[in-house]
Amino acid sequence: MSSAFHTAIVPAAGLGTRFLPTTKAVPKELLPLVDTPAIEYVAREAAEAGAKKLVIVTSPTKASVANYFDENPDLEQSLTDKGKTDLVEKIQRAPKLIKAETAIQDQALGLGHAVGCAEGNLTGEDEAVAVLLPDDIILPTGALKKMAEVRQEKGGSVLLAFDIPREQISAYGVFDVRDTGSDDVKQVVGMVEKPKPEDAPSTFAAAGRYLLDRAIFDALKRITPGAGGELQLTDAIALLINEGHPVHVVVHRGGRHDLGNPAGFLRAAVDFALNTPEYGPDLREWLRERLDNS
Ligand code: UTP
Repeated sequence: MSSAFHTAIVPAAGLGTRFLPTTKAVPKELLPLVDTPAIEYVAREAAEAGAKKLVIVTSPTKASVANYFDENPDLEQSLTDKGKTDLVEKIQRAPKLIKAETAIQDQALGLGHAVGCAEGNLTGEDEAVAVLLPDDIILPTGALKKMAEVRQEKGGSVLLAFDIPREQISAYGVFDVRDTGSDDVKQVVGMVEKPKPEDAPSTFAAAGRYLLDRAIFDALKRITPGAGGELQLTDAIALLINEGHPVHVVVHRGGRHDLGNPAGFLRAAVDFALNTPEYGPDLREWLRERLDNS
C-alpha cells in the first residue's frame, strides 16, 4: 500500500501573542517540554506516520525554528572532544528525524494563509499533505497513521477530532457529522466555529492534525478573510465540503496538550517532566509538599 502522504506542513509563523513578552524574542514553538521543544515531538510524529519531508512555515523573524533542524558540526565537535556522546546524540536527533525545509509567511495572515505558503514546496507526488500544529500535542501518537488509512479507504480529506464535554464545546471548531458504521470514523457534513453548547451540531471538536487532499490549495485561494480578518483553514475545508469533497474525522480517544497558552503549556511541561526518570521522582515529591503547604 503506498503512503497516503509524503509531506507534513508545520505552520509556525504565528505571532504567539498569548506568550508575550517571551515571544518578542523566542518563538513559542521552541519553548521546551523538559529539554526538548514541542516542534521536535511533532516532527517525530510526522516521520513515524510516514512523512519524508517537513515543511516548516516560518516568518522572517522566526528563522530559529527552522535552524533547530540544522546540523551543528561545531557544537558536535566540541561535545565530542569533551566525551559528551549522550549530548551529541541529543543534538543530532532533530536533523536525523526528517528532511526539513522552510516556507516563509511574511505576515501572520492566518492558519489557512500559512498552509497556502507551503504549496511551492510540494512536488507532483504530493496528492495529499499532512498539517500538524506544533502547539497541539496528541497522546498517544499514531492518529495520523489511522487518518492515512481512512483516506486510503474513503478518499478526500481526513481530520482529527476529540469528543469534548458539551459544556466546554464553545471553545472549539465543531463538526457536523454523520455515522459511517464505525464509532471512531465519522463523515463531516459541516463545521461551526465556537458554537453555544445548545447550538453545537455534535461534541466532536477539531484538533491540530489534518490530512488534506491537495485540492485544499485551490480552496485556500478562493476563500476570503474570516474570523479575526484571517484566512482560516476551516473556511477552506468548509468550502470543500460544500462542493461535495469527502471529508471524514477520526475520533481520537486519547489525551491532548494545548501548548498555545501558558496554562496548557505548564500542564504539559509538568506532565512530561513527571514521566522522565531523571526529573520525575523529585518533581513529584516537591509538588506534593508544595501542594500540602498551599
Ligand atoms: P495559533 O493561533 O495557536 O498561534 O495558531 P498564534 O497565532 O501564534 O498564537 P496567538 O493566538 O497569537 O497566541 C496555530 C499555529 O499556526 C501558526 C502558529 O505559529 C501556530 O503554530 N500560524 C498561525 C501561522 O503559521 N501563521 C498564522 O498566520 C497564524
